[in-house]
Amino acid sequence: MKPDEQWLFVVFSVISLAFLSTVDSDLASDRAALVALRSAVRGRTLLWNLSDSPCTWVGVSCVQDRVTVLRLPGMGLLGQLPVAIGNLSQLQTLSLRYNALRGSIPSDFAQLSILRNLYLQGNQFSGEIPEFLFTLQNLVRLNLADNNFTGTISPKFDNLTRLDTLYLEDNSLTGSIPELDLPALVRFNVSNNKLNGSIPKRLATMNISAFQGNTLCGAPLAPCNGTKSDNGLSGGAIAGIVIGSVIGFLIVLALLLCFCRGRKSANKTISSKDAAPASSTVIQTETEIPREKTSVSTENTSTDFSGAVKAEAKSSGHKN
Ligand SMILES: *[C@@H]1O[C@H](CO)[C@@H](O)[C@H](O)[C@H]1NC(C)=O
Ligand SMILES: *[C@@H]1O[C@H](CO)[C@@H](O)[C@H](O)[C@H]1NC(C)=O
Ligand SMILES: *[C@@H]1O[C@H](CO)[C@@H](O)[C@H](O)[C@H]1NC(C)=O
Ligand SMILES: *[C@@H]1O[C@H](CO)[C@@H](O)[C@H](O)[C@H]1NC(C)=O
Ligand SMILES: *[C@@H]1O[C@H](CO)[C@@H](O)[C@H](O)[C@H]1NC(C)=O
Ligand SMILES: *[C@@H]1O[C@H](CO)[C@@H](O)[C@H](O)[C@H]1NC(C)=O
Repeated sequence: MKPDEQWLFVVFSVISLAFLSTVDSDLASDRAALVALRSAVRGRTLLWNLSDSPCTWVGVSCVQDRVTVLRLPGMGLLGQLPVAIGNLSQLQTLSLRYNALRGSIPSDFAQLSILRNLYLQGNQFSGEIPEFLFTLQNLVRLNLADNNFTGTISPKFDNLTRLDTLYLEDNSLTGSIPELDLPALVRFNVSNNKLNGSIPKRLATMNISAFQGNTLCGAPLAPCNGTKSDNGLSGGAIAGIVIGSVIGFLIVLALLLCFCRGRKSANKTISSKDAAPASSTVIQTETEIPREKTSVSTENTSTDFSGAVKAEAKSSGHKN
């Protein structure tokens, strides 16, 4: 070989070696992530033979020596997920449904950029639905049902433009359902949460059972009170406002009339010197007598109350 050719050969072999070793280290890093997961959550059936390739392990599927699917449903996985699954960078499907996982979804899930299916239903995950989920733009199916998620349903779900399934039922989500604009969405369920307000129009075609167990209104549930017409205020609301204003005006008018009459009669009484003090004493006694009564009665009740507290303290003392 000429020196030039030798040089080319060296460069070529270095490049190909580097390429091979990255492929290897990628599967090695998948393996390390799976082993870290296993030791953190210890399911009853994660009997993976560590001397075999991870692609042969139960629940693991590979494409071109990378883990693309991890399915461990009902495996008795217990506790909190470790920071590890995010290293499965070619993962497309992750199913950890019906285990006993709790705590929050680890933030390294944000690295699962090509994830399409995420099934975490039937665990005890808690906290708010994490923001980083809304960056996983390849998500098609997302099932977080039957967990302990709290907080609101973020309008940022709109970022997940490919979403066709969104299951959030049986959590403790609060607030109202945002006006989601998800063109591919066909399966949706938010039943048995603590949601309120009206159901967005785009979701009106969903099955009625997708909304039950909340305090929601509007199609497909019963219409919301006082919002029968579509464009702005309903006829009833407008009538209410008009009638309310008229009544308010009449009350003000009546008060003004009374005030004027009162002043006229006051002027009359002031003009006769004897009548004025008499009327003021009458007013005083009238106001004082009820005040006396109430002060007495509140005292009585307060003593009664403290007596009751003492009695209760005694009885609880006995219990202890
Ligand atoms: C995940 O990958 C990072 C970066 O390569 C590495 O430092 C970390 O140890 C890996 N974690 C696991 C659990 O394999
Ligand atoms: C694990 O795999 C190795 C190599 O394939 C095999 O020799 C060994 O018997 C396996 N162990 C178990 C417990 O199946
Ligand atoms: C929406 O997705 C893009 C692309 O992944 C991301 O950069 C952006 O932060 C996401 N927006 C929200 C609100 O999460
Ligand atoms: C989840 O919610 C259920 C019922 O609301 C409750 O019994 C359970 O303790 C909660 N679990 C966690 C981990 O918060
Ligand atoms: C929604 O979830 C509830 C509770 O799990 C279930 O009873 C109902 O059939 C579901 N409805 C739809 C449309 O998925
Ligand atoms: C509508 O009003 C009626 C009577 O005031 C009440 O019983 C009902 O719960 C209300 N419905 C909604 C969805 O607020």
